[in-house]
Amino acid sequence: MTLLRGRNVRISGTGVYIPERVMRNVDFTNFLDTSDEWISERTGIRERHFAADGEKCSDLAYMAAKNALENSGMSNKDIDMVIVASNTPDSIFPPMACKVQSRLGAVDAGAFDVQAGCTGSLAAMQTAISGIASGIWDNVLVIGCERFRDILDWKDRKTCILFGDAAGACLLSVSEDGAGGFTAAKLFSDGTKADYIMAVPSDDSFQQLSMKGNDVFKYVNRNLPKFISDFCKESRVDVEQVNLWVLHQANARIIDDIVRRLKISADRVPTNLERYGNTSAASLLVTLDEAVKNNKIKSGDKVCFAAFGAGMTFGALMYEA
Ligand code: UT7
Repeated sequence: MTLLRGRNVRISGTGVYIPERVMRNVDFTNFLDTSDEWISERTGIRERHFAADGEKCSDLAYMAAKNALENSGMSNKDIDMVIVASNTPDSIFPPMACKVQSRLGAVDAGAFDVQAGCTGSLAAMQTAISGIASGIWDNVLVIGCERFRDILDWKDRKTCILFGDAAGACLLSVSEDGAGGFTAAKLFSDGTKADYIMAVPSDDSFQQLSMKGNDVFKYVNRNLPKFISDFCKESRVDVEQVNLWVLHQANARIIDDIVRRLKISADRVPTNLERYGNTSAASLLVTLDEAVKNNKIKSGDKVCFAAFGAGMTFGALMYEA
């Protein structure tokens, strides 16, 4: 089930867009009973970015997609499909992927959105990989993007301090020489915990984020390390063989727990949540882009991606560079 078959699929470009406006922990103390110490000690987050007033989620997506396409050296005409993962679309429809596709001039591409909480970018990547491996597409642009500022409850100190706006992107392509590529993939869901993270109507907004943070925290700590170690076994890769871990950036204590339980060397786990907070569906792709740009991935390296999110959903991917 977990091991991939078909044509090899490689990462041919990555991109990112982080909106300019920065909000530091201390800025929350102007309107909430909180502190820089509480936020940084309990989450590892120091600051996050938010989109400007007129900057839509699809604008963030487009900027990251453009960056990934430039970095790949490919042309807009090479793209067969655009897939956007997000929990905070401009509107329920049209798909944001269609807006990105037209702005890029990717005239030969199809486009659609997916939504799977913070696991969304992994669901989108697995869809892209399946389509390329089976031969229906050659190049797929995957984007994860969020504009949380609209759906946060700014009166709830337990949630609004966690999230930030961002977009990350990657171009996935068939491996022409058959070398490298994704070797295994897995998605898991436990809908009995659907009420842990929800968008619910409120007096202020059509949709507002509501989260049982401590329940999420305990559930993830109880289940995610085993999910990842089982995934490695099914992928026929020892945990020690993984050169780089691209993990969902939600809480530094969750990442530390995975590192400790799986006995991973911490220098193989890049983090950016101290700068961006939890950017949900963008988080993995932003982390991947930083790893690529900082030359952290060498040819032949094994890279393991893992994420969790609303649903509850878990996901993982194994890649050989
Ligand atoms: O991408 C997936 C999305 N979700 C997550 O990843 C969330 C995972 N959960 C978490 O990261 C953590 O549960 C939180 C950071 C949300 C909360 O940390 P916690 O250690 O689970 O704290 P808690 O909710 O149990 O709250 C402990 C105390 C409470 O006070 P009392 O009742 O003990 O007096 C809270 O009211 O901390 C209080 N508290 C705060 N205090 C100052 C909660 N938020 C804040 C705050 N500033 N911002």
